[in-house]
Amino acid sequence: MDTELPFSQASENNKLPILEVLKSHLDNIDSVLEIGGGTGQHAVFFANIFPKLVWHSSDVPANVDSLALRIGRAALPNLPHPFPLDVNSRPWQCDKFDAAFTANSLHIMTSDSVIGFFAEIANHLNSRGKLCVYGPFKYAGEFTTPSNADFDIWLKQRDPLSGVRDFEWVNELALAAGLELLEDNSMPANNQLLVWSKQ
Ligand SMILES: C[S@@+](CC[C@H](N)C(=O)[O-])C[C@H]1O[C@@H](n2cnc3c(N)ncnc32)[C@H](O)[C@@H]1O
Repeated sequence: MDTELPFSQASENNKLPILEVLKSHLDNIDSVLEIGGGTGQHAVFFANIFPKLVWHSSDVPANVDSLALRIGRAALPNLPHPFPLDVNSRPWQCDKFDAAFTANSLHIMTSDSVIGFFAEIANHLNSRGKLCVYGPFKYAGEFTTPSNADFDIWLKQRDPLSGVRDFEWVNELALAAGLELLEDNSMPANNQLLVWSKQ
């Protein structure tokens, strides 16, 4: 039956390494906001692993119905129906959460959307709330691997406003939003998992 659901092989591959990092951050909290939930694989996986927290997944309005397919099929008590959230539609119409998570979305969004994301995210985190962002980044203007440089070319051919983001730029946006970088974890497949905490 799962073959009928939207599926991402990358999500399947990265969920366990992401869990290894996130478990210390998600263990004793009540709520998570997911932005750009995509296929819902992360939402279902993490809601299953952390039954004490409520995982609130979201995506742009056009993608919410497909995100809802897997989430609805899972029928987990701690995984409500996803809600529409485009980071550009500010102020965001949602509550505050103990943590926020997004995977492989900052390089898909435009750079203006990334700015909007960081301008808004701290308003939706509780005190000491964590922001966890998974994806590829550049450091000092350099790609971490040739394959990430190729990926950036591929992204820009699809949408010139997308692209692998500079870690330093993203961290400056986070700092301006009152978020302190706690961890920069190197992950498989040339990705990072960045964790910030609201001051
Ligand atoms: C490559 S997919 C990643 C999906 C999922 N997080 C995963 O890891 O498989 C990028 C996601 O970013 C979302 N996205 C793009 N622009 C967005 C925006 N302006 N606001 C919120 N989400 C956005 C897309 O709809 C999509 O779900």
